[in-house]
Amino acid sequence: MDRRVRKAVLPVAGLGTRVLPGAKTTPKNMLNVFDRPILSYVIEEGRAAGIEHFVFIVGRGQGAIEDYFDASPEIESALEAKGKADILAEVRRDLPKPGQMSFVRQMAPLGLGHAVWCARDIIGDEPFAVMLPDMLMAAEPAALAQAVSAHDQVGGNIIVVEPAPEGEAHKYGIVDLERQEGRLNRMRGMVEKPAPGTEPSNLFISGRYVLQPDIFPLLEKQGKGAGGEIQLTDAMAELMKAQPFHALEYEGVTYDCGDKIGLLRANVAFALRHPSLGADARAAISGLL
Ligand code: G1P
Repeated sequence: MDRRVRKAVLPVAGLGTRVLPGAKTTPKNMLNVFDRPILSYVIEEGRAAGIEHFVFIVGRGQGAIEDYFDASPEIESALEAKGKADILAEVRRDLPKPGQMSFVRQMAPLGLGHAVWCARDIIGDEPFAVMLPDMLMAAEPAALAQAVSAHDQVGGNIIVVEPAPEGEAHKYGIVDLERQEGRLNRMRGMVEKPAPGTEPSNLFISGRYVLQPDIFPLLEKQGKGAGGEIQLTDAMAELMKAQPFHALEYEGVTYDCGDKIGLLRANVAFALRHPSLGADARAAISGLL
């Protein structure tokens, strides 16, 4: 069996309630962060971690995602005719090779656990990554690459975590560690959206996972949890009875693009670090202050 992490599941079907009306006609993960859609950065991160196949779990009205990752003959030939090679390269940079992406309809918004379960046939019997594309991570090496290295090191299941801002832990999945020493620690529990004051730690699940395929039969029979949704966290807690889980406190910065202020922060941060336009962006932003 291939133990290499080759495939990633990207649940993108959410309505984007916190970024409406921007996400009304544009899938939320197609909103721009400076000069590219959010998904462009996430795919780049996945590729840097060795991912060869991306499985998008989509909802109705999200055809723009498939179109973005397909050839665009009109745009490409117009750019070619005008000799605009630099823009053409940018337009083509995210394109997969044919067959490297799959799109699965979730059909009903039953929760993250249900979304991941929808990928079961495409993943098959090998370890795989889950990337929550709302969470944009600026890191070197890439956040998922850090998780894959941890998986190479200790095997089993890896959950990327980070400290939650004061008073916000109840909004997330929270992990419980056996003991905290360095960045990679064996877990002893996890809970999805604990009631305020009951959090077992302040380390929240920040949106990158490496999981074993044994999660799928557990997801299949997973009942509703927090918020009345089928929760990935609950099925992982179940799997932890049979397999080790490690939490990796990754090195980098996370931007929650599912939220208006988080999306704004990401826009400013990625504009400032842009290789050719960063200096102009800095001047433009300082001019506003
Ligand atoms: C999901 C996960 C949660 C995680 C969070 C990160 O929750 O269930 O464990 O901490 O993403 O954004 P959601 O944001 O979908 O409520």
